[in-house]
Amino acid sequence: MQHTDVVILGAGAAGLMCAIEAGRRGRSVLVLDHADRVGKKILISGGGRSNFTNLHCTPENYLSENPHFARSALARYTPADFIAMVERHGIPYHEKTLGQLFCDRTSRDIVTMLERECVEAKVKIQVETRVLGVAASTEARGRFRIETSAGVIQAESVVVATGGLSIPKMGATGFGYDLARQFGLSIVEPRPGLVPFTFSAEDRDAWSDLAGVSAEVVATVVKPEALRARRAPAAFREKLLITHRGLSGPAILQISSYWAAGADIELDLAPGQDVFAPMLAADAPRDRGAALAPLKTILPTRWAERWMQVHAPATNPQTRSLPNARIVAMEQQIHAWRLTPAGTEGFAKAEVTAGGVSTAELSPQTLEARKIPGLFFIGEVVDVTGWLGGFNFQWAWASGFCAGQVA
Ligand code: FDA
Repeated sequence: MQHTDVVILGAGAAGLMCAIEAGRRGRSVLVLDHADRVGKKILISGGGRSNFTNLHCTPENYLSENPHFARSALARYTPADFIAMVERHGIPYHEKTLGQLFCDRTSRDIVTMLERECVEAKVKIQVETRVLGVAASTEARGRFRIETSAGVIQAESVVVATGGLSIPKMGATGFGYDLARQFGLSIVEPRPGLVPFTFSAEDRDAWSDLAGVSAEVVATVVKPEALRARRAPAAFREKLLITHRGLSGPAILQISSYWAAGADIELDLAPGQDVFAPMLAADAPRDRGAALAPLKTILPTRWAERWMQVHAPATNPQTRSLPNARIVAMEQQIHAWRLTPAGTEGFAKAEVTAGGVSTAELSPQTLEARKIPGLFFIGEVVDVTGWLGGFNFQWAWASGFCAGQVA
């Protein structure tokens, strides 16, 4: 039987960072993954260029039942710490927008960097290895017995870094949640996050032929009581994209993490602008053409024309000279498009899994399970979910770093 100080389950962002830190402390570390290579999600992240962190990372950029939980780890390992590692390896990068840092070349640079750090820290990585079970050990050496497709391992510490349920076809599993439940730890129901919405049948008929058009909007979830607990921020001002099946784009992905089935969303299609109000001036033209012109400066032409067709149909005799009440209503409608999504595209398309191992079960300093000494949960498997923009990797690095100091 093999013995090692630390076994890390999952060779993704969090698992590799934890391995590097534990290895640097002189611990013998073995990382196991059932995939055929390490860091698969890092490779596809950020459209192949990995948005590996965000310069403006704060605890407010995360959702969790306990919004304060991430504070400690994020303070101990900051974006500047990760950037220092990136620079040490001579990896060129740039800020794209809103503090989001991307590789100039490809995300392979990040994976290669982590692999090199693992080699330096004498970490052993074993891919194509299935973990069949983890149990408290009865042997004198090691607190845990890990049964794998490659044999049995005894370890002092087990770090669960198996990620969430997003993109099952890339190897995502609910293994981490099952293991937590097995050890009596509670789970906040996992749900897809950073995911496109699907249209109701009515909205699909009205809008889906506009697939491909986009605009900058302010998006919010209209909060019923149940959503308040997740403390939705006021709004996200980013791009929205209409798809064949619903709505996507950064603004939509951001609010999807705060959405629950049945809730409405609201979209301001002309943030900070008066579109139709100038038509209320005494000498201003009031025909449909006069309304369409400013709308076309805000929305793509196809979308602007459709919007007018819905809100001021050409067949309506009133629209030849729009009355004040209609103009005022249109101004309100352009700033508050209410929809009830039918649902989301689910885990198959979700960039992250919200929910996960309850933070009430874990130490915020070390990510160790309070009830089970030596058992750690890090990264996406924990109920800490970042906004779009590099925040999820920063949580993976930070939580991996903290567990790596003590595992
Ligand atoms: P991660 O999922 O990375 O790793 C888990 C590992 O565990 C995997 O290697 C898996 O094979 C392994 N595993 C699972 N079950 C197992 C089992 N039973 N036995 C053994 N091994 C098992 N974030 C960001 O900040 N910036 C970005 O640009 C992007 N871009 C992006 C694009 C796409 C398409 C997706 C799907 C996601 C992103 N993300 C992102 C999110 C980011 O990828 C994610 O939050 C982190 O990878 C989470 O890191 P973890 O290490 O926790 O899990």
